[in-house]
Amino acid sequence: MNSINHQVRLAARPSGLPKPSDWKLTTEPVPVPGPGEFLVSVSHVSIDPAMRRWMNAAHSYVEPVAIGAVMEAGAIGRVTASEHPGFPVGEYLYGDFGVQEFARSDGTGVSKLDPSLAPLPTYLGALGVTGLTAYFGLLDVARLSEGDTVVVSGAAGAVGSVAGQIAKIKGCRAIGIAGGPEKCRWIVDNLGFDAAIDYKAQDVARALPEYTPDRVDVFIDNVGGEILDAVLTRLARGARIVLSGGVSQYNAQRVSGPSNYLELIGARATMTGMITPDYADRYPEARAELAGWLREGRLTSREDVLEGGVRAFPDALLKLFAGENIGKLVLAVQ
Ligand SMILES: NC(=O)c1ccc[n+]([C@@H]2O[C@H](COP(=O)([O-])OP(=O)(O)OC[C@H]3O[C@@H](n4cnc5c(N)ncnc54)[C@H](OP(=O)(O)O)[C@@H]3O)[C@@H](O)[C@H]2O)c1
Repeated sequence: MNSINHQVRLAARPSGLPKPSDWKLTTEPVPVPGPGEFLVSVSHVSIDPAMRRWMNAAHSYVEPVAIGAVMEAGAIGRVTASEHPGFPVGEYLYGDFGVQEFARSDGTGVSKLDPSLAPLPTYLGALGVTGLTAYFGLLDVARLSEGDTVVVSGAAGAVGSVAGQIAKIKGCRAIGIAGGPEKCRWIVDNLGFDAAIDYKAQDVARALPEYTPDRVDVFIDNVGGEILDAVLTRLARGARIVLSGGVSQYNAQRVSGPSNYLELIGARATMTGMITPDYADRYPEARAELAGWLREGRLTSREDVLEGGVRAFPDALLKLFAGENIGKLVLAVQ
């Protein structure tokens, strides 16, 4: 077994897009688990837009990553040494293992995975936090009902691609907003969205009426900014906007709020923020249903798996903000 643990640490708080100098690659001896602990050999790290927010000093729903600390990341790995009876050697796990090759854990916040049910990267995709965001965002926060017109931004990404497919499974109309013709074709031709709007080529506010003749009942917003503003002009009465995230604002020095928010009043609409780990006690039931749809071929999970190990992490994160991923961006570690 490897005796060196390669890690990526936060070296400086970025201004705008993270630069190479905001990171430091370090090595340490592979840790040895103490009593009640186990060692995880990390195989796949989740690359998430929210990582950019965790790098800021400002208060958020998680503690900021400290300067000098290993970058936080959800990850998948396998137990390779254990002093913990609940986590024997060979067990596959998901946890906040960070951007590193090996992590020592006492099991806090760690969940067990069944690799016979789905390939490991799918536990970061449709069966991971992003798939679960789509699931709880639609079914719990938005209280989706059959026949709703659902608009999804970031529609070819990890959350968005699953959200549109769940909307279709539940008998709704799904309209995706994504950047570029390849992504728009993929969500319509392969995932079954009813229509796609290419926000890089089309004016979203002008295009929406054609695809949403009965206006928008549910909007799963992953990007914020101008796209949120455009959808606000097209709300049906009682519309539910779910704020999953705001990728377009994560690198901004000053976040631009929605100037069309007064549309919520006339539409008697709601706009609700959500944090998926709040639903952790319901993950097993949600994963079982998502896995069933995967098995039946009604749901597709696409993972965009990058090679290169932890040293490829800084470039991998930038790919999200350049829109270079289709589906869930994952970094293969070892
Ligand atoms: N609330 C929660 O608990 C929770 C959990 C997980 C994720 N999220 C949020 O869900 C959102 C999507 O995350 P994800 O992991 O699924 O990422 P993703 O959608 O797979 O990747 C990000 C995508 O955002 C789009 N994008 C980047 N810059 C943009 C811009 N300036 N304007 C419009 N679109 C832009 C790009 O697609 P295009 O090519 O289409 O531009 C890019 O591919 C994020 O906001 C994330 O923070 C929230």
